[in-house]
Amino acid sequence: MREKFLPFCLPEIGEEEIQEVADSMRSGWITTGPKVKRFEDDFAMFVGRRNAVAVNSATAGLHITYAACDLKGKKVMTTPLTFAATVNMLLATGCEPVFADIDPRTLNIDPRQVEEKWDDDVAAVVPVHFAGVPCDMDAILRIARMKNALVIEDCAHAVGTYYKGRHAGTFGLAGVFSFHPIKNMTTGEGGMVVTENDELAESLRLLRFHGMDKDAWKRYDRSGKATYDIILPGFKYNMLDLQAAIGIHQLKKVRSFNEKRREIALFYRENLKDVEQIALQEDPGYDFVHPWHLFVVILRTEDFGRDEMIERLKEKNIGTGIHFPAVHLFKYYTEKLGYTKGLCPNAEYVGERIFSLPLYPNMTLDDAKDVVEALKDVLANK
Ligand SMILES: Cc1ncc(COP(=O)(O)O)c(C=O)c1O
Repeated sequence: MREKFLPFCLPEIGEEEIQEVADSMRSGWITTGPKVKRFEDDFAMFVGRRNAVAVNSATAGLHITYAACDLKGKKVMTTPLTFAATVNMLLATGCEPVFADIDPRTLNIDPRQVEEKWDDDVAAVVPVHFAGVPCDMDAILRIARMKNALVIEDCAHAVGTYYKGRHAGTFGLAGVFSFHPIKNMTTGEGGMVVTENDELAESLRLLRFHGMDKDAWKRYDRSGKATYDIILPGFKYNMLDLQAAIGIHQLKKVRSFNEKRREIALFYRENLKDVEQIALQEDPGYDFVHPWHLFVVILRTEDFGRDEMIERLKEKNIGTGIHFPAVHLFKYYTEKLGYTKGLCPNAEYVGERIFSLPLYPNMTLDDAKDVVEALKDVLANK
């Protein structure tokens, strides 16, 4: 057995990030400022969109995107196999979430289910590129176009995801990314909304900072103006320069981070593919690049549960994560909103059995070998 606990995830922070944060600290400007602007420009270039709007989390990014798209009072379709934030922010905006089931192989929202569950009051669809595997965007865009609905991509897992040669987040009206510490790149906490639509970008900039008119955040700087107006009632979702300082350097490294993730993930795949008691997420049939945000395992055993597996792996010094229980079966969703079991059987089956193995750039193949051995050992002695 391993002597030292192997965490599920660790961020990789280098000297460049530390120096850049120290530079901001020494400069006297630590909140939203020039480094946020630089990070936005770099990120816009990285994904290939005209606008990138930095926020303090993807949750915040989803909230202001839903709000800016005027979705209040409307139905919005999404997957139940996502982090609660995707759906909670629909509720916060005053939308009614409608769930379309997943494809049990790719674990992404199934376009056939999207069509089946559609009704005329659905105004938008929010595909989530689960674990970094892109959704079938051609099919989703076709349906959305036919129904005159918006597409907002939840790209929290998708820095480095490409679908048919284009970066995730560039297919819908907007794409929302996360830089939480377990993500492929981090800013501590943080998020980014990308869009080609200048008007939307302008609304997002207003909504992320109190609804203050242009550049009001500069009001303590010599180039800013002290007076300001409130154009609409906005939020306080701005990213700090301290966070952007980290992001600027993380973004430069994310391709190499993803390469290291791939090496570990392919080792897992090769060494777990013949284990009968588990299933792995399958590749879709189209051309894509996988950033390997997560490596998920679905337990197929009927006599041995996921939670017990997690405990047994912990005893062997292996950390894991759960991504995700089906959102519509959480207490609030069943008790207050009336969603019931049976609504999305594939997501419900997966949600009860799924867990994520350790995966981060600085892991070694020896670490991954320990994980495989521990997992096989638990299954052999359950
Ligand atoms: C699919 C998905 N959407 C949104 C979020 C929210 O991201 P953040 O933690 O940056 O608010 C997460 C976070 O894990 C996520 O997994």
